[in-house]
Amino acid sequence: MDDGGGGSSSSSPKSPKSPDSAPEPKPKERKQKSGLGWLEWARGWMSVIGEMLFQRIMASHLENPLPLPPVNHLTCIVTGSTSGIGLQIARQLAEAGAHVVMAVRNPKAAQDLIQKWQNEWSGMGLPLNIEVMELDLLSLDSVVRFADAWNSRLGPLHVLINNAGIFSIGEPQKFSKDGYEQHMQVNHLAPALLSVLLLPSLLRGSPSRIVNVNSVMHYIGFVDPEDMNLVSGRRKYTSLLGYCCSKLAQVMFSSVLHKRLPAESGISVLCVSPGVVQTNVARDLPRIVQAGYHVIPYFIFNPQEGSRSSLFAATDPQVPEYCELLKADEWPVCAFISQDCRPTNPSEEAHNVETAYRVWEKTLEMIGLPSDCVERLIEGEEITCRYGGQ
Ligand SMILES: NC(=O)c1ccc[n+]([C@@H]2O[C@H](COP(=O)([O-])OP(=O)(O)OC[C@H]3O[C@@H](n4cnc5c(N)ncnc54)[C@H](OP(=O)(O)O)[C@@H]3O)[C@@H](O)[C@H]2O)c1
Repeated sequence: MDDGGGGSSSSSPKSPKSPDSAPEPKPKERKQKSGLGWLEWARGWMSVIGEMLFQRIMASHLENPLPLPPVNHLTCIVTGSTSGIGLQIARQLAEAGAHVVMAVRNPKAAQDLIQKWQNEWSGMGLPLNIEVMELDLLSLDSVVRFADAWNSRLGPLHVLINNAGIFSIGEPQKFSKDGYEQHMQVNHLAPALLSVLLLPSLLRGSPSRIVNVNSVMHYIGFVDPEDMNLVSGRRKYTSLLGYCCSKLAQVMFSSVLHKRLPAESGISVLCVSPGVVQTNVARDLPRIVQAGYHVIPYFIFNPQEGSRSSLFAATDPQVPEYCELLKADEWPVCAFISQDCRPTNPSEEAHNVETAYRVWEKTLEMIGLPSDCVERLIEGEEITCRYGGQ
């Protein structure tokens, strides 16, 4: 695996930056923080613009589709696999021989896709081992029902890919029926609940992985753990704010989860950036911007290209070792794989350990889980969740 600092190849994975050089967190100073400093903000935007302009050059060493190692022994759950990046992830894993579970809010659309894929695949090998289960991330009850149904099979889960996400560009602030801002719920809270509840199955499948399809946009996000719903009025709500906050919250939660899972659990937690990808996520963009997507295809990945970092994180044999190394080094964040399949550093704010712990605690409170849920699940105990009663 290459390191995040440049194109040089290295045989042993290493932290994106030496942990020795990481600045010490300054709890008192950070407590007062009410937003990104302008330098952090400018650097964040530079990362976003850099990815938009240079992703194809940075990823020019990658093949498309990404060749996968043997995956016949893997069972993988892919959320949001009826379109865009998730569709590509599910199809490529299935065609490579994995058992794939499409976790989707529209099972009929998924069944139609499977039928089409089976037809196109016929004669090329064994029929694809792929199935559909219903999951609506806008309902935490649905998440609990999904996890209960999966865990009750008592089978192993090797890879959970939290891919489903929304970016309701230009739309007013909306809340789920659970009362949470929709970007925060779909992009962070519901995947967090799913990840924790599926730990028993991931333990059975160990070594296993949780892969969160995140975004370079988290670099311009700032999370106030006391205002995860973005209702305090301290910041004017925009869909961009909602999206970026949800993606940063996911990196912070994943970093704490990564630290709380003991090495013996064999569960790796990663976030990835897929790049800037032409998918349905752009359906709410102004028409002029959508037209731009077609005019400048050189800069924008197609969904197959956009699926590479997730597939890499889900299957590359060096990934667990890399994650363990970060843990052993007490690196403050979980592994983050960029669109060119190289480890990179998440945003400066993602390294704010104190805020990350507060995001962790607040998230567990919001999704109705006890604060020691991970430790109890690792011990094989049962936990109860406030959701899923019905
Ligand atoms: N495209 C980009 O440039 C880009 C850049 C950075 C990060 N990402 C991330 O990549 C991931 C995949 O996005 P995409 O670009 O492939 O977009 P997409 O084509 O819109 O796919 C999103 C998927 O999420 C599903 N989904 C949405 N709301 C859901 C809900 N409430 N419950 C269950 N599933 C739900 C959608 O289901 P339906 O098919 O039923 O709508 C769809 O399958 C997202 O997390 C996104 O934030 C994308």
